[in-house]
Amino acid sequence: MAIPRPLPVAVPRHVAIIMDGNGRWAKARGLPIIEGHKQGITALRRCIDVCCRYGIDYLTVFGFSDDNWRRQQKDVDNLMDLLRSYLIDDKDWKKEGVRLRVIGERKRLGEDIARLIGMKEQETAEQTRLNLTIALSYSGRKDIMQAMEHLIRQKKTISEDNVRGVLWTSFMPDPDLLIRTSGEMRLSNFMLWQTAYSEFYFTDTLWPDFDEQAMEQALSSYAARHRRYGA
Ligand code: IPE
Ligand code: IPE
Ligand code: MG
Repeated sequence: MAIPRPLPVAVPRHVAIIMDGNGRWAKARGLPIIEGHKQGITALRRCIDVCCRYGIDYLTVFGFSDDNWRRQQKDVDNLMDLLRSYLIDDKDWKKEGVRLRVIGERKRLGEDIARLIGMKEQETAEQTRLNLTIALSYSGRKDIMQAMEHLIRQKKTISEDNVRGVLWTSFMPDPDLLIRTSGEMRLSNFMLWQTAYSEFYFTDTLWPDFDEQAMEQALSSYAARHRRYGA
């Protein structure tokens, strides 16, 4: 029988992840890039399981950035095909009680994918175990800009509360822990407003290799942090 591991003392309510390193994972094995992304989906499924088990309320992952559109057309097309099948195939959400949401410029993903996303969001809207948000065609700066435009249109003052209320992320608390895999130590335009007081955790592990143990290491590191919020 598996021995249950002790829970870290402070479990973050919201974990955000920049899932990076799929391409390098594939290259190192002489495989086509898309194989790295496929393994990346397996890693995401594992990670969702861990979050459910630890009672984490929100998991937000960076799946595709606004700047990723500049990649080779073939790679973008392959990724979109993979995204489509992930959205169609994933049965785990129902079983695990996962509520799916997508943030970013979903229209750019194409009509069929946008429709699929809308369907999955509706299907899972009543589920409460884990709030899974996937950032797709996402730019943190664009989110801030659309929030400003919104407030100007509504003739509202630019206060922190008002901005927070119109960001794409208005439904979620700020991330407590932000993880980036693959050794890169930058935000790459992810959740610029929301990570003001997040704890950052960087690991050399490539996203497809990020397993349960790697996630638990990140959670343990978080549990040992002292958050002061400037006070
Ligand atoms: C992250 O992996 C996933 C996406 C950006 C879609 P990369 O594709 O950036 O992998 P590397 O950084 O080239 O290894
Ligand atoms: C950020 O990773 C986007 C995702 C993980 C989806 P990138 O690989 O695109 O970022 P850079 O180019 O290393 O900054
Ligand atoms: Mg990358």
